Amino acid sequence: MYFQRKEYKILEKGAIPRHIAIIMDGNGRWSELRGISRSEGHKRGAENVREIVKAALEIRLEILSLYAFSIENWMRPEDEISIIMDILESSLTEEFPNFMKEGIRFKVIGDRQRLHRSIRVLIEDIEEATANNNNLILQCALSYGGRDEIIRTVKKVLNLNLSTEDIDEKGISELLDTKGIPDPDLIIRTSGEQRVSNFLLWQSAYSEFYFTDTLWPDFTKEELIEAIYQYQLRNRRFGRVELGTIKCI
Ligand code: FPP
Repeated sequence: MYFQRKEYKILEKGAIPRHIAIIMDGNGRWSELRGISRSEGHKRGAENVREIVKAALEIRLEILSLYAFSIENWMRPEDEISIIMDILESSLTEEFPNFMKEGIRFKVIGDRQRLHRSIRVLIEDIEEATANNNNLILQCALSYGGRDEIIRTVKKVLNLNLSTEDIDEKGISELLDTKGIPDPDLIIRTSGEQRVSNFLLWQSAYSEFYFTDTLWPDFTKEELIEAIYQYQLRNRRFGRVELGTIKCI
């Protein structure tokens, strides 16, 4: 049995979501509350990524998606962007051997052309080296916007010269950055904001949401388990009704 440890017992009764996506928000507020620099908040945020990835492996999640840098984040001050990019590059360099050790497949979604060349090359190297790992898929949204992804997909459709009858949901899904990855079952957003902020717009059509006031650096494995537990209490109907429960007339 997966869940030998006491904190996981609670999860045994329900289905574990295959795919959890997280909007990691609140690094800035976390640092402001402590009177320290925003870069310290981002550093703590990146350290917490490590903890939550570890928890995802323990829970035997199939896919963990993380919204690390949105396309709108390019509008932040230059020095903050460069600090986030440095943290990202050093975290990925440091974690690369662990991805191999733990069997994590790493992949990036988003407009990577806008990333600095050194990060792009690093990402490509890690994606290639980890392509056959199969304990967890870690999908990282970098320079990512849901609308941007849809626009890039529309351009691909036009370039393929498809006839209108050949355009369907399955075909579109195959052209998105998330090709081959099932839609998220559960989307978590930290820091008290209750919006999707351009994250996985197409893919979140039937996702469940869990919003928490916890700021990202304080989000723990225990709260991840709580979010899964809340998910298990919900009844996912995908727009259908349950047969035998409702009379229409
Ligand atoms: C949200 O907090 C966080 C970000 C915009 C960037 C977070 C990304 C990292 C720290 C990189 C780590 C990622 C990996 C995969 C290692 P915020 O600044 O929007 O917080 P605020 O809303 O309180 O200002």
